[in-house]
Amino acid sequence: MAANTREGLAWITRSQAYLLERDYASYARWFLEYVDASPGDCVLDCGIGTGETTAFQLVEKGVNVFGVDLNPVLLNACNRKANDKTLSIGNTLADIQKLPFRDEVFDAVYSFASSWYLADLNAALAEMRRVLKPGGTLTFDVINLWHPFQFMTYLHYRMCKSRLYLALRVANRIREGRPVDELLAPRGSSSWEFYPHTPPQIASLLERFRLDFDVKGFFVLLPLALPGLGQRGNLCKYSPLLASQVRDNPVLKHLGAKLVFVCRKTAIPERDASSTPLSSGRATA
Ligand SMILES: C[S@@+](CC[C@H](N)C(=O)[O-])C[C@H]1O[C@@H](n2cnc3c(N)ncnc32)[C@H](O)[C@@H]1O
Repeated sequence: MAANTREGLAWITRSQAYLLERDYASYARWFLEYVDASPGDCVLDCGIGTGETTAFQLVEKGVNVFGVDLNPVLLNACNRKANDKTLSIGNTLADIQKLPFRDEVFDAVYSFASSWYLADLNAALAEMRRVLKPGGTLTFDVINLWHPFQFMTYLHYRMCKSRLYLALRVANRIREGRPVDELLAPRGSSSWEFYPHTPPQIASLLERFRLDFDVKGFFVLLPLALPGLGQRGNLCKYSPLLASQVRDNPVLKHLGAKLVFVCRKTAIPERDASSTPLSSGRATA
């Protein structure tokens, strides 16, 4: 099965599970509060996937949503699900890092749960800013590397991708007489990489792009969500006061597992940001 199809089907299953999970659905709803779109506005969803978590909600409110995604399996699913719900939504196969639109055509732009798959967030931000009308809002979320659990997850991810770790796994399988082809098979061109960021990295990018921004924290504070425990370890879930602190407190918000950046495009043109430190390759395989 092609990598695109495998990943697409995996995400369709996961997104359906997420929608049933109260916390993720509430996170998506909460994120949408920061997408500044009114009925009749034209809005771009970058990394629309199946459209269910965010785009459909906006369309139901009368917003015209157009989506881009790199995965044709997900775009097909999005069209099918939109048809089933008789929702009108446009989408196209395109890379967020190279958007196929003219400058300043969208009233708002957002990207939900997709930025941490982008090798070049710098290019993506430049593109999302370019297609946004002056005064419009760009909203996106990042995985926060300052959050202890996310940091551990990232270390684990890097370890799993290291050649040494692969060599150890191959050696172990050979020792046990088990096949190794699956471990050595090419990963496919669209495999989802994982690129978390720290708050200052994103802040410095947005400042270069002359995007005024506010940051909101979300999810787990401490103790950490543990494998198997899932969101049961999310203290914010039990305390609205804590949840609001993690969202808005100037210090605590930087410890949210996810950070949501709400940016407004000013009329002043950006400085040349083509060679910022976040340009590609930070966490390649
Ligand atoms: C975790 S899914 C989230 C999808 C959707 N926003 C949702 O919440 O259901 C991440 C999405 O980003 C898409 N994606 C990853 N890299 C992309 C890129 N460079 N350009 C466009 N889409 C991309 C993936 O195909 C996938 O649909």
